[in-house]
Amino acid sequence: MNEKARVAVMVSGGGTNLQAILDAEKAGTIRSGEVVLVISSSSKAYALERAKLAGIDAYAVTKKKYGTLEKIEEKVVSLLQEYRIDLIVLAGFLTVLSPDFTARYPRRILNIHPSLIPSFSGDGFYGLRVHEEALKRGVKITGATVHFVNEITDGGEIIDQKAVNVLPGDTPEILQKRVMEEAEWVLLPKAVESVSQEILNLRAAL
Ligand code: GRF
Repeated sequence: MNEKARVAVMVSGGGTNLQAILDAEKAGTIRSGEVVLVISSSSKAYALERAKLAGIDAYAVTKKKYGTLEKIEEKVVSLLQEYRIDLIVLAGFLTVLSPDFTARYPRRILNIHPSLIPSFSGDGFYGLRVHEEALKRGVKITGATVHFVNEITDGGEIIDQKAVNVLPGDTPEILQKRVMEEAEWVLLPKAVESVSQEILNLRAAL
């Protein structure tokens, strides 16, 4: 069989989306790609532990160590080259990447966002804030979106979306958990498989 698409997952926190991808790989629902590298913007992210447990090389590329976004991206690019990465997955990665960086990898960077874009998206909409604003606005349906990353925050081409009900009594924390369980952990592995498949198809056509 041909070599699989080589996937890097970039994280900042708990890494439950990373785990969903690793579990899908194990279960065989991701069969065209394999995670070979994890990069975290924080040295304390539990995602690093998850990578270690799965035997995947993981690096913390932190502001503290590298100082500027330019230096951070320089290090990230060198790791991506070293590991011959085909597909980059932002799974809770909190550093906003520069237009120079995103322009290097057109249709090769995926992001998962915890709302139905364009609602509750763009600069400043990350983490619990997204769910707080959804509850404040009183929407009855929210969800998650997986999209390609370009120079506009949450503005790249949408790959897939999944709706999730907002229920009476929801807190931002409860809603965040439901959106993760019902949407994010489903959408992201599915998109990793479909884009990896596309990469393999392109490779086979060469
Ligand atoms: C998720 O809510 C994701 O949508 C957002 O950041 C969170 C990451 O959580 N981009 P985890 O680190 O995957 O658990």
